[in-house]
Amino acid sequence: MIGEETLLSPATETDLLRQQLQRAQRLSSVGTLASSVAHEFNNILTTILNYAKLGLRPTATEQSRLECLEKVLKGSQRAASIVSSMLGFTRNQAIRRDLTDLVALVEDTLLLCEKDLSKHQVHIERKFTCRPKAPVVAQQIQQILLNLLINARQAMPRGGRITLDVRENARTHMAEIHVCDTGAGIPPEKLRLIFDPFFTTKEPDSDGHGGSGLGLSVCRQIIEQHQGRIRVESIVGKGSKFTVKLPMALPGDRPVPEAA
Ligand SMILES: Nc1ncnc2c1ncn2[C@@H]1O[C@H](COP(=O)(O)OP(=O)(O)O)[C@@H](O)[C@H]1O
Ligand SMILES: [Mg+2]
Repeated sequence: MIGEETLLSPATETDLLRQQLQRAQRLSSVGTLASSVAHEFNNILTTILNYAKLGLRPTATEQSRLECLEKVLKGSQRAASIVSSMLGFTRNQAIRRDLTDLVALVEDTLLLCEKDLSKHQVHIERKFTCRPKAPVVAQQIQQILLNLLINARQAMPRGGRITLDVRENARTHMAEIHVCDTGAGIPPEKLRLIFDPFFTTKEPDSDGHGGSGLGLSVCRQIIEQHQGRIRVESIVGKGSKFTVKLPMALPGDRPVPEAA
């Protein structure tokens, strides 16, 4: 990490409550993913165990041992990156903006939920035409992305496709992240309500877990704190597209340090 840190305005009581709400909502989205992350770990462990056993067979050649070791290494690296992404996301970090590569942030978020998405037959299409950097609180933007991805998956109970598009608008100097799904869509009369706190259309499932209606209201809060914008377009029966716009520099800002 180089340079100075940019701290946001001093925390007032409202700020503290807002932070607590954001943290609670963040943990709740991790809860949604917990079982698929645990399954993924189990799969990785099984792979590691099997290749370790294979490599240790007395009949194994030098070449096959090397191949087994490579598989063990790959599995361990994947497990380590999932853990580090999970820890980064749940840790109570200082609210500090760093110049962050948004494509890397999207990939980090996908690490957390790609198992959950594939379990629900949801395919991801990446359209990363450029790699914009923006001065953001990385954990908060990850929280927005995770909320949008989980909502998209929940809108496609029989599976579908999520297209993730990262762009840069040179005219407005904004980075744009588009999250597009092929789900149920949102009727026009509900479209203006979805960012309201506690607005949800999700009934409790067999485990009694319904929607909290807090996901998008927290997204909006975070985006306002970043002087960004969020907009939604939706066609019932076809799908929805959420666009997050984030300034690539803040007016009057000193240069923001690059994320470590
Ligand atoms: N991608 C989407 N497709 C269809 N409906 C959506 C989508 N994202 C959000 N919604 C609607 O907006 C509502 C509010 O979303 P959110 O604030 O995340 O709360 P929750 O997910 O807990 O219901 C959802 O209940 C749903 O009706
Ligand atoms: Mg939600």
